[in-house]
Amino acid sequence: MLNISGISKTYDNGVKALNKVNLSVPKGLFGLLGPNGAGKSSLMRTIATLQQPDTGSISFDNIDVLSNPIDLRKRLGYLPQDFGVYPRVSAQELLDHLAVLKGIIDKAERAEVVEGLLAHTNLYQHRKQSVSGFSGGMRQRFGIAQALIGDPDLLIVDEPTAGLDPEERNRFHNLLVTLGQDKVIILSTHIVDDVSELCENMAVLGDGKILLQGNPLEVTEQLRGKVWRKIINYSETESFEEDYNVISKRLLAGRTVIHVLDENPPEGFEPAPTSLEDVYFSTLHRHQYRQGLSL
Ligand SMILES: Nc1ncnc2c1ncn2[C@@H]1O[C@H](COP(=O)(O)OP(=O)(O)OP(=O)(O)O)[C@@H](O)[C@H]1O
Ligand SMILES: [Mg+2]
Repeated sequence: MLNISGISKTYDNGVKALNKVNLSVPKGLFGLLGPNGAGKSSLMRTIATLQQPDTGSISFDNIDVLSNPIDLRKRLGYLPQDFGVYPRVSAQELLDHLAVLKGIIDKAERAEVVEGLLAHTNLYQHRKQSVSGFSGGMRQRFGIAQALIGDPDLLIVDEPTAGLDPEERNRFHNLLVTLGQDKVIILSTHIVDDVSELCENMAVLGDGKILLQGNPLEVTEQLRGKVWRKIINYSETESFEEDYNVISKRLLAGRTVIHVLDENPPEGFEPAPTSLEDVYFSTLHRHQYRQGLSL
């Protein structure tokens, strides 16, 4: 169990990236959902002990993470959002090298670990290729392979599916699911389907604050019977936004579909099947509305 309590961070340039974040993360896949700039990477780097918060505390099982970063790192696997530049060596050699850095000194043991991870991430047949020549999806799978060296109990993956084509994204999802329920796995994303497809627990982060936390099915259920949809012309969008509580708008075959949140059916609207996307957009909308901004 990972517990995050009262974490705040203001960068030197004055940006308040994290604002009193409290989160309890149980074992299994946990989705951290938020738009660009919400603070997801800041939070993940903080948990991974790569940066210090201004205030707050983090514990993982019995480890006080902020005062014992080295203890945490022994149990941590981390895939950063930008994994950076890869040297021109084969996937197998690079993984072997990273395993040395993680402390697996015995050569035979290391060879076994590396082979196992390459097989698990479906990269075994590509092991002799240089990672710099890998496709985006293969790179992300390699990223997971390196994060799994040493069989960590806490795995942090920061926006791993951004930019993957549907097939690779699916393959990556399947890989995450096979990692089992005995680890705490935190996945950050701005793709709502990542969370609805994979995660038993989730939180929405916006503007450095936790805006919502819960089980995706339960939070979606809470909106059942309260979301209504209507197909309109794009030019009518503004006037509908003035008259109704519009939580999302999207295009469908060139027309605009709006979703409205209301306890009662508004005239001329039809019931919309509720989805986690409605929860996400209505949560962000409520938050921005309170701040006096419009979407
Ligand atoms: N090292 C830094 N110095 C100054 N400001 C930063 C730094 N890192 C992040 N920020 C700012 O903090 C805010 C949160 O950024 P962060 O990268 O944590 O968000 P994010 O949710 O990961 O966004 P994205 O989805 O774009 O990756 C942003 O306004 C960003 O510009
Ligand atoms: Mg980020």
